[in-house]
Amino acid sequence: MKKILVIGAGGQIGTELVLELSNRFGKDSVIASDIKDDSPELLKDHKYVKLNVLDKEGLNDLVEKESVTDIYLLAALLSATAENQPKFAWELNMDGLFNVLDLAKEEKIKKVFWPSSIAVFGPSTPKDKTPQQTVMEPTTVYGISKQAGEQWCAYYHNKYGVDVRSIRYPGLISYSSLPGGGTTDYAVDIFYHAKEYGKYTSFLDKDTALPMMYMEDAIRATIELMEAPESNIKVRTSYNLSGVSFTPKQLAEAIKQHIPDFGIDYAPDYRQAIAASWPSSIDDQVAKNDWGWEKRYDLNKIVSVMLEKVNPTLLF
Ligand code: SER
Repeated sequence: MKKILVIGAGGQIGTELVLELSNRFGKDSVIASDIKDDSPELLKDHKYVKLNVLDKEGLNDLVEKESVTDIYLLAALLSATAENQPKFAWELNMDGLFNVLDLAKEEKIKKVFWPSSIAVFGPSTPKDKTPQQTVMEPTTVYGISKQAGEQWCAYYHNKYGVDVRSIRYPGLISYSSLPGGGTTDYAVDIFYHAKEYGKYTSFLDKDTALPMMYMEDAIRATIELMEAPESNIKVRTSYNLSGVSFTPKQLAEAIKQHIPDFGIDYAPDYRQAIAASWPSSIDDQVAKNDWGWEKRYDLNKIVSVMLEKVNPTLLF
């Protein structure tokens, strides 16, 4: 029987992933875990276990006790936060991954999902329609950890036959739970401010285009990748995935279609340099070919849903 453990279930992706995995496979097949004492509000009626992914023994015990088969490892420090705590970011992002990969190597679990990011790319990478295989010289702590992690995933697959699958997520846009510590977070914050105050100050410059994706697409991609036949998975580092690409200015224009008086100004901070080092759009042909990936949300659809659904009390 399938038994899924989601590590980092309190985060932006984890919360929605637990909900969707429960829909698909039944609540009894999913265990949510995070480092916090209490389960996130949205997961109140789901099984929740407090877990620090760096506690290898605790993780092993849980996996054995619950007969876990699949792990989705989402606990990590994101790009902006990692710049302020480089050593800890490296430890969490890498040792957490090793703890999970080792469980698969020891055949205690069957399958691993681990998220990579557009942050694996750097200033020397071709910026537009960045290909699956290209120059990768990341300049952030987060990007370095994701790049190394991708190589370790491929290594564990090639050397030990570990079934680990991965996606290079773009910036993710969602309303159920807040993002924490990323460079692309502006594209979520802006909706809360638009709805509550009718204006927003962007920490990225107006013309900085970044690859983004609506969460529903990202969750569907994640589960489709994990459920695809093993023989379809040809990339064991991580798959490029593309949703939409836009600049803060273009996003503001799209919001103005709904809130004509919406005002935006720009006060770029240290996150601008991170954003400037990343691609502006992604070529995901390989994911399309290998496991049939297709996005569903364009910018206008994202903006309509977000303005309708964000609940400003979550942030303010
Ligand atoms: N959204 C992430 C970040 O900004 C990218 O993976 O850090």
